[in-house]
Amino acid sequence: MVETSDKWIVERTGIRQRHIVDKGVAASHLAVEAANRALKERGIPGRDLEAIFVATVTPDMMFPATACLVQDRIGARGAWGYDVSAACSGFVYALQTGTKFVESGAHKRVMVIGSDVMSSIIDYTDRATCVIFGDGAGAVVIEPATDENGFIDFLHEVDGSGGCSLNMPGGGSLNPATHETVDKKMHFVHQDGQAVFKYAVRKMAEASETLLRRNGFTPKDVALFVPHQANKRIISSSADRLGLREDQIIVNIDEYGNTTAGTIPLALESARQQGRLKKGDLLLLAAVGAGFTVGATLLRWAC
Ligand SMILES: CC(C)(COP(=O)(O)OP(=O)(O)OC[C@H]1O[C@@H](n2cnc3c(N)ncnc32)[C@H](O)[C@@H]1OP(=O)(O)O)[C@@H](O)C(=O)NCCC(=O)NCCS
Repeated sequence: MVETSDKWIVERTGIRQRHIVDKGVAASHLAVEAANRALKERGIPGRDLEAIFVATVTPDMMFPATACLVQDRIGARGAWGYDVSAACSGFVYALQTGTKFVESGAHKRVMVIGSDVMSSIIDYTDRATCVIFGDGAGAVVIEPATDENGFIDFLHEVDGSGGCSLNMPGGGSLNPATHETVDKKMHFVHQDGQAVFKYAVRKMAEASETLLRRNGFTPKDVALFVPHQANKRIISSSADRLGLREDQIIVNIDEYGNTTAGTIPLALESARQQGRLKKGDLLLLAAVGAGFTVGATLLRWAC
C-alpha cells in the first residue's frame, strides 16, 4: 500500500505485528470482550458494577457513548458511565476518574476500559501513520483497597497548544462530514510525528520523575514501568532519562502496535501473563497523547 519495509518499521518503531478488526467490529465490541474477561477473572457478574468509564477516540458513533453500549451488553443494569476522550492518555485519565469515585466512597466497583479501533481512522496511503497504529482493548475493575496497597498518586497535564500536531479534523462540529471533508481525508489521523516524538520523550520522563519524587520514591523503587506503547524508541528514551533498567519496563508494542487507549491495559495484561505483577509491587503508568495530554499514575498492585 505504501513504500516501506519491515526493517524500517521494526527499527524506527519496534512494531512487529498488529491486530486489525474485521469489518463491522467496533470499539464497543472489543470493549465488551475485554470487560467480560475482566469480570470473569474477578469472578463477578456485570450487574455488580456501579459505573463504567470507557477511554476511546474511536467510539462506535458520536453518541450514545460507548460506555452505554457496553453497559447494556455486559448486563451491568445498575451502572452509569460515559466515555473519556484523551487519546493515548485516555486510559490513565479514565483510571483516575474511576479511582476517585471509589476513593470518595461513592462506588465500590467501577470498571475502566481502554478501547480503540484505530484502523477506522487511519489513512492506509500515509506511511507516517499507517505503520504505527493497531486495534485493541483492555479492562480493569477498581475496588476499595483492603490493605496498604492501591493507588498512591497521579499527575495529569494538558498542553492544548499541541493540538495541531496530532488530530482528526473531520467529522466534528467544526468540519461536519461532507463529500469535501472526505475527499480531503479529514476523517483520518493527521500527525507531525517528530513533534509528537520529542514531546512524548520529554514529558513521559518529566511527569514520571515529578510523581515519584513528590511521593518520596526514586526510579530504583519502581518494580514495573508501564508506559503507553507508542514507539519503542519513545519508551527506551524515556526509560533512559529515568535511569530504569530493562527488567523494570514492560514492552509489548512489538505484538500490538499503538492501540491508543488500549496500550496500558494490554501492557498490564502482558505483565500479568509473564508473572511480572506481584502483590505490593510499585507500578508507574505513564502516557502522552494527542491534546497534548500527559498522564502518570503511581500505585501498588493489590492482588
Ligand atoms: C512516526 C515516526 C515513527 C516516524 O519516525 P521518525 O524517525 O521520526 O521518521 P521521520 O519522520 O524523521 O522520517 C525519517 C525518514 O523516514 C521516512 N519514513 C517515514 N515513514 C516511513 C515508513 N513507514 N517507511 C519508510 N520510511 C518512512 C520519511 O519520509 C523520512 O525520509 P527522508 O529522510 O528521506 O525525508 C515517529 O516520529 C514517531 O513514532 N512519532 C511519535 C508518534 C506517536 O507516538 N504517535 C501517537 C501518539 S502518542
